[in-house]
Amino acid sequence: MANPKSLSVLFIQLTLVLILLDLSNAQSLKLGFYSTSCPPAEAITKKITTQFIYQAPSLAAPLLRMHFHDCFVRGCEASVLLNSTNNNQAERDAIPNLSLRGFQVIDAVKAAIEKACPGVVSCADILALAARNAINGPFWPIPTGRRDGKISIAAEVLTNLPPFFFNVTQLKASFASKGLNIKDLAILSRGHTIGISHCPSFSNGLYNFTGKGDTDPKMDQNYIAQSKKKCKPGDTTTIVQIDPGSSKIFDTDYYTVVSKRRGLFQSDATFLTNSTTNA
Ligand code: HEM
Repeated sequence: MANPKSLSVLFIQLTLVLILLDLSNAQSLKLGFYSTSCPPAEAITKKITTQFIYQAPSLAAPLLRMHFHDCFVRGCEASVLLNSTNNNQAERDAIPNLSLRGFQVIDAVKAAIEKACPGVVSCADILALAARNAINGPFWPIPTGRRDGKISIAAEVLTNLPPFFFNVTQLKASFASKGLNIKDLAILSRGHTIGISHCPSFSNGLYNFTGKGDTDPKMDQNYIAQSKKKCKPGDTTTIVQIDPGSSKIFDTDYYTVVSKRRGLFQSDATFLTNSTTNA
């Protein structure tokens, strides 16, 4: 007869198997979802995305950001791609999404895939794959099989996407509401190693941090002085590199920048105030 110790080990193993089964049932995505229904889907996505990025390397960052903005509102179901109608303002017309670019890349991939296998491959999968292919950085396996949503509501963007002025507690709660933990938050924020920002997304830290005309004391004051030269008060059009000097390369520089108190957004600078994200 089995002793109590081996029974409890068996119980733990069974529980783990059940949790994993439950997770995989909840997620019907799998690697190579289109391997029989549309074998060239991933290759077409890669080829066309690479062609676009070759012509316009600066599209990589907004495609990665678009994938993030898609996933945080109603899940990764391409609702960020839908157009507004007379009766409905869609996500892509919400303020945080007005600076998204690269929709033409997804449209071009979708058109090419539709020629090869009509009505099979979702735009949500195309966006997930294109974002990875575009950044020319780390590779991550992408299970596919996402289905496209039909609902896209601008107001939901503001209630689901964390704004640039969130502190680490607020960011942690925002990510937790999407099933992501604080480590995911720190890892995913590395997306800010590429790309650009418009001045209003961080100028409060330069000119009006607490509403009294002050600067963000957490930021390196030399960096503030440099940034003030680029972004004058009220400037809404100038763009700056988020990770100065290496904003086109997907490296780990972002973490060095943040640790030097040069994180551009408050949502980056705030990582130094929490022991987990600081580490
Ligand atoms: C943690 C919460 C986050 C906040 C508050 C945030 C906020 C912002 C803001 C304010 C901008 C600049 C927009 C502009 O002024 O044009 C930006 C840009 C960007 N974000 Fe985030 N972000 C967050 C997380 C992420 C994540 C998770 C990713 C991807 C993994 C990401 C990828 C990017 C990229 C690539 C850009 C540059 C876009 C471009 O060059 O057009 N961000 N983000």
